[in-house]
Amino acid sequence: MTRPEQEGFVLWFTGLSGAGKTTIAKALEPILRERGLRVERLDGDIVRQSLTRDLGFSKEDRYTNIERVTFVAKLLSRNGVAVLASFISPYRDMRARVRREVTNFIEVYVSTPVEVCAQRDVKGLYARAFAGEIPNFTGVSDPYEPPENPEIVLPAHELSVEECVATVLSYLEERGLVPRAEPELATVNLSPGGKG
Ligand code: ADX
Repeated sequence: MTRPEQEGFVLWFTGLSGAGKTTIAKALEPILRERGLRVERLDGDIVRQSLTRDLGFSKEDRYTNIERVTFVAKLLSRNGVAVLASFISPYRDMRARVRREVTNFIEVYVSTPVEVCAQRDVKGLYARAFAGEIPNFTGVSDPYEPPENPEIVLPAHELSVEECVATVLSYLEERGLVPRAEPELATVNLSPGGKG
């Protein structure tokens, strides 16, 4: 029997730079593949080296960045692909546009506060932003509008990566977008006489 065609969806991770969007998406990727899904990851830091390498961080350029990515996410999601998209995407109406365009948009707000992101400062960008060396830096000198009704909120500063992944997985299972993990087969011999 052939499996029913998997419905596509877009997990849209939004939040500040360094909030944990990419880390969570990366951890989810192999798990979704194990469950039989076709998965593509779209990530600001990577997409900005190719599809949107001509763009900077003005409001206009951020809109263009998200617009192009939305186009890709739309094609993938309507063809049954699970898309993991990690973009700051700081404006509410920008994310509302994505929601309208793609199949099964799921907004995941990674809500790590700016103080924690700045303290970790994995890429060293916050220090430079606070020193005034990077203009229009989200959360420092540029706005971030938190989602009002996200499907999922992940306070990644209070949860482990595993807990974040589990939260997203159970949401997807609940919606029937991901098949539940098959239970481990018990090694009990049920046949009469113990053969076979
Ligand atoms: S978005 O605003 O257009 O959605 P996107 O997610 O693609 O942003 O890229 C964000 C990444 O670009 C950050 O994680 C950071 O590494 C880098 N970056 C460089 N300059 C800025 C800036 N001014 N504001 C935010 N992120 C920046």
